[in-house]
Amino acid sequence: MRRWLATVSISIVSALSLVACGGGGGGQASQSPAASGGGGEKKQVEVFSWWTGPGEADGLQAMKKIFEQQNPNYTFFDAAVAGGSGDKAKALLQSKLQANTPPDTFQGHAGAELQGYIKAGNLEDLTFLYDELKLKDVFPAQLVEQISVDGKIYSVPVNIHRSNVLWFNPAVLKDAGVAAAPKTIDEFIADLEKVKAKGKIPLSIGSEWTVTHLLENVLLGSMGTDAYNALFKPGADWNSPQVTKALESFAKIMSYAGDPQDDWQPAAKQVADGEAAFNIMGDWAYGYFHNPPEGGLGKKSKTDFDWAPAPGTEGTYMWLSDSFTLPKGAKNRDGAIAWLKVAASKEGQDAFNPKKGSIPARKDADQALYTDYLADALKDWSSNKLAGSIQHGVSVNQPWLAAITESVGLFIGSKDVKALQQGLADAAKSNAQ
Ligand code: GAL
Repeated sequence: MRRWLATVSISIVSALSLVACGGGGGGQASQSPAASGGGGEKKQVEVFSWWTGPGEADGLQAMKKIFEQQNPNYTFFDAAVAGGSGDKAKALLQSKLQANTPPDTFQGHAGAELQGYIKAGNLEDLTFLYDELKLKDVFPAQLVEQISVDGKIYSVPVNIHRSNVLWFNPAVLKDAGVAAAPKTIDEFIADLEKVKAKGKIPLSIGSEWTVTHLLENVLLGSMGTDAYNALFKPGADWNSPQVTKALESFAKIMSYAGDPQDDWQPAAKQVADGEAAFNIMGDWAYGYFHNPPEGGLGKKSKTDFDWAPAPGTEGTYMWLSDSFTLPKGAKNRDGAIAWLKVAASKEGQDAFNPKKGSIPARKDADQALYTDYLADALKDWSSNKLAGSIQHGVSVNQPWLAAITESVGLFIGSKDVKALQQGLADAAKSNAQ
């Protein structure tokens, strides 16, 4: 994994030339799954994710449909736990893993997060599935590296998401005299000020994790790709003047944030409804803006909402990837493998991703399905440099992210940039391997 992180600064154009891009509607699990329905009953497959909310669930539902069509003996049991970015889901998952009562399959981010589950011995090796389905041929080698330890492969990636997207409301920008999306952090700050003068919310913000999401974007946009990627190498200097400058900009940008919303969806909605000018969020927001109601807002792209790379990050894809696993001790192991086969398939990925607002992990997806924002994403993914997301499991493992989250939480209250920098430096020191 470290190798990919180390090389993320170089263009991966050819290496990763992916094709790509999904939506559904689930709901919090309300009943407990029968381990294995006997007596001719269908066996349930407990699929654990955090895709329950608007814009999140559509993709999962699309994949569920294919799963149930192809597997008449199984039913899909939606064990999703609400809460964007999975903070709540991951805490519950940890307790299930510790109690040795894992779901049949769970969602995990490729990169440092998944490496944590692998090293803790939570996951079965899926090399047999990769051999059977010839999956090494269809996934980018560098992505497979992120989900492997000692040559064994531990999950099935369903997508590639982009973290560094600036979503904006074109009419609000026009009204504030902002002619085009800001390309640098300084331009961004100047534009935030112009919007403020018009009485609109300059930057919408969601729950606490969305602030860490903003932080990763400002670090990348301010420091540049190589310096950002270097932050996750052993011995990296989080006390450098470059980090100080980035954090000062972060504090300034945060001073333009509206009232914190409950999660990412209401913050994104403020932009789509014209209450706010900007929101920095991953491209799952596209599924939410674009999908028809109830799953999405049914908004018109380029009119109700528009997008650009987050300020200062053009040419770089801050990536993350959702993947599904086979936990050791899964009650319905065969059913979980049947789910993984759908998640790995072209049909599954092409149903999931256009709804999810992501591009497929597979290189052979049907490009024609990926239009509008998703066509831009496919193009950029095949040509941009790479950086790994902090909030979404690529660059830092869960203990490191928890330490970063704590520092960000303290900063939200104190606005103390120095303390934030020290907190981030300490987090790196205790957790970088
Ligand atoms: C990410 C996840 C995405 C999306 C987002 C918001 O961590 O990878 O698929 O669900 O959280 O909840």
